[in-house]
Formats: sequence, structure tokens, C-alpha cells
Amino acid sequence: MSAAETAALGNIQLLLVDDEAFFRSTLKKRLQKRGITLLEAESGEAGLAILDVHPVHIVISDVKMPGMGGLAFLERVKADYPEIEVILLTGHATTADGVSGIKAGAFDYLTKPIEFDHLISKIQQAYSLILRREEQRREAELRERMERQMILTERLAALGTLATGVAHEINNPLAIIRESAGWMEMILAKPEMADAPRKADFEKGLDRIEKAVERARRITHQLLEFVQKPEKKASETDLAVLMAESAELVRREAANHGVEIAFDRREAVAPILSDPYQLRQVMLNLITNAIHASEKNGRITLGLENAGDALVRFWVSDTGAGIPPENLEKIFEPFFTTKSPGKGTGLGLFVTRGIVARLGGAIEVDSALTRGTTFRVTLPRTLLPPAAELPSPEQKRQGMFARLTQALSKEKE
Ligand SMILES: Nc1ncnc2c1ncn2[C@@H]1O[C@H](COP(=O)(O)OP(=O)(O)O)[C@@H](O)[C@H]1O
Ligand SMILES: [Mg+2]
Repeated sequence: MSAAETAALGNIQLLLVDDEAFFRSTLKKRLQKRGITLLEAESGEAGLAILDVHPVHIVISDVKMPGMGGLAFLERVKADYPEIEVILLTGHATTADGVSGIKAGAFDYLTKPIEFDHLISKIQQAYSLILRREEQRREAELRERMERQMILTERLAALGTLATGVAHEINNPLAIIRESAGWMEMILAKPEMADAPRKADFEKGLDRIEKAVERARRITHQLLEFVQKPEKKASETDLAVLMAESAELVRREAANHGVEIAFDRREAVAPILSDPYQLRQVMLNLITNAIHASEKNGRITLGLENAGDALVRFWVSDTGAGIPPENLEKIFEPFFTTKSPGKGTGLGLFVTRGIVARLGGAIEVDSALTRGTTFRVTLPRTLLPPAAELPSPEQKRQGMFARLTQALSKEKE
């Protein structure tokens, strides 16, 4: 007997539908003695009304009833509550009804006068079927969630590798464009060009080129920041100092937005062994996002606390717009942004999460629409020696290239 089958009768919610009051009350007493919780109804109509408000596992229903018959009742139950199992009770002369009941989805039928132990065992069987089904559903759900998570992780990894590769390739032409624009500007500024026709138009064009190059550079730099620091340099890192420095760096931007930055340092946190430069990058990314999400008179709180012997935690909390639940899974993906192209690259959190992961930490987000958002970063006090076995970005790129060639040659075969 499986755990499901030995399941206590005490968990079962049952509805008994029969027009004979005496039959109901006798059966009810006996079932209750076995620990079953029982509701009763004198007709199909009354039974449906009960199901409307009470969750029930199993229905036991008479077939011959005035008004809505047991079979019509069964059909309605199976249509509206497919999870409920129905056991029909038929008279001796009408077992044919029981057979059509099974065809219509009844779990089983018993002939009156019923044998009590037989009924109990039917109830147990029906209940274990329900439990099994529920277990299967839960398993399927879990499997699906895990698959979704795996797809997301893989896609992130592939996207990141690809994006950083592209960033490398784009930096060179970008430098040439920028230099050439600068060179043309210099020529335009020469005395012999003072009266050149449409000089102002050229200058405007060059200015636009420079702005666009600047934007592209911002993107590639953020991407490269993500790749270029595979060698972790651990040094003594005072997070409280780092936090104050980072706040100082964005103070002007915050003031421009009318946003105040405050500290919440409840306790002293000893310096940790980590990478201060990368952590400053993390703090700056989080604070900048918080500023962008804030309205005038918003408040950003930077907090720091000990999290047990081995860990410390800092957080950046804002009173801003919040993140819609459907975006929560996406904000760490590269290029996901809700900002206008001039303002957001969608790389900040991608880079941030990469850094935190490489430093052996974790980042979590908590957000309520219109109320604000908190990002929490938990870090180990001591950065463990690099897990050298993680492939470097270069190795990853080569790995991807190899896979791609492999896939292409397979296609040819
Ligand atoms: N503190 C925050 N409050 C509300 N939304 C945020 C916050 N931080 C990040 N987001 C959302 O996550 C998106 C991605 O952030 P990020 O990766 O830093 O890229 P970017 O800031 O360039 O848009 C933002 O566009 C924004 O929609
Ligand atoms: Mg950002």
C-alpha cells in the first residue's frame, strides 16, 4: 500500500446527496465515526449549491431522486469540478444506471442496500486516485519550472558570450569613426575653412556622429567590464567606505533629480576580502537605477549589515516606481531596459549580477509597484580562490564557435 492509499480518512471532505433523510443521517453517522468530514444535500440542485462554496473531494450520490436525477447531477459535477470523484448509489433493479454513470465519468457505483465496508474501500480508492493526480500535477509543474529556468540560464549565458564578442569587434571601427570625426572637426576649425559653405551643417553632423559614438561606446564598455576582469584581485574592502564613496560619486545626479541618499548602518561591519573596484561598480549601477526610478523627493537608502559569520549584506532601497512582476525575471537579461535608448543600455544589472556571482555572492530583488524596490547583495567575507575551472570568456567564445561549426557541418551531412 502506498502512502497515498493509507492516507487517513480524516483528510477527506465528502458530500452525500440523497433524498431520503433517514438513509442520509444513518450513513452520515457511520462515516463520521470513521473521521470523514461530511456535508449533505437532499437533491442534486442543493448539492451543486454546496459545491459552489465548499471544496469537496468525493461526492456520493443517489441516482433516483426527484428533480435533478443522479446522472444529470453527475454530469454537472464532472463538467464544473473535474477533480471531484463521484460514487453513485443505485437500486438493485437499476444497475444499468450505474453503468451509464461510469461512462459519464463516475468513479464507481454501488447497489443499495450498500455494504458499509465496501463503500469505505471505494472512498479510499477514489481518494488515493485524487492524491495521485495531484502529485502528478505538482511534479509536472516543478519539471516545467525547472525547464524554464534552465532555458533562461542557458540563453543568458549564450547571449552574454555573444554580446561581449560583438563588443570587442565593434570597438575598433568605433574608434576609427570617432577619430575621423575629430579629424574632420579639426579641419573645419582651420582658418582657411572659415568661410566654407554650409560649415554649420557639417559641424552639426559631426556633433551627431560623436554623440552616437559615445552611446555605442557606453554599451561596449559596459559589456567589456563584464568580461575583462576574469582575474579576481582580492583586497581588503571596507563596504561602508565604498558605500559612502559611491554615494558621493552620484550625489550630483541624485540632487538633479531631487532625490536624497541616506545610510542605514545599524552595526559595524568589518572589512571583507573582495574586489573593491568591482563592488563599487555594482553599487553605482544599483544606485543609478534607483535614481532613475525615483520621483522628486524620493529617498534612496544604502544599508549594510552582518549576515552571520561568513557573509555580509548590503542593499540599495528606493521609494520609486517599482518593477512590474512580469519584468522581474527579465531585468537581469542583457539589453532588457524600459528606458529610452539615450538613457538605458539594459546592461547594468546584467553586469552587476555577473560581478556579484564572480565574487561568490548573490543578488536578490524585492519590489512593489509604486512603492519602491530593494536590491540586496550578499557577499562572502572572504573571496575564495578563483574557481579556475570556470571557462574564461575567451574560452567560452571559442567553445561557442566550435559548437557552431559543429552544428553547421552536421547540417551539411
Ligand atoms: N530600482 C529600480 N526601480 C525600478 N526599476 C528598476 C530598478 N532597477 C532596475 N530597474 C528596471 O530594470 C531595467 C534594467 O536595468 P539595467 O540592467 O540597469 O539597465 P538600464 O538601467 O540601462 O535600463 C531598467 O530599465 C528598469 O526597468
Ligand atoms: Mg541601469
